Amino acid sequence: MSLITVMPSGKSFEAAEGVTLLAAILAADENLSHNCEGKAACGTCHIFVHEGRKGLSKVAREENERLDAIVGVGSKSRLACQAKVLGTENIKVELLGFGSGV
Ligand code: FES
Repeated sequence: MSLITVMPSGKSFEAAEGVTLLAAILAADENLSHNCEGKAACGTCHIFVHEGRKGLSKVAREENERLDAIVGVGSKSRLACQAKVLGTENIKVELLGFGSGV
């Protein structure tokens, strides 16, 4: 289990190992766009991970390529639909509140 904290709401909840950040965030009733339903194709689930990056699955090629195409991407960027919780660290994410995808 990892404790996930979502900014700006400040809501915290537990997420089991193996679930995506997108699934965990939606299950907690937070709003996060996911126009391609988790296929790394739209970029609308782009978030910043402020703490606990090592507690997430590594960035795979599809995610990297999609992130490359998004404006406003930084070193903390992940696609929530691709980042899986490893259960080893607590994680703090920031929902960006704008459609940064294509
Ligand atoms: S939901 Fe489309 S890239 Fe994550």
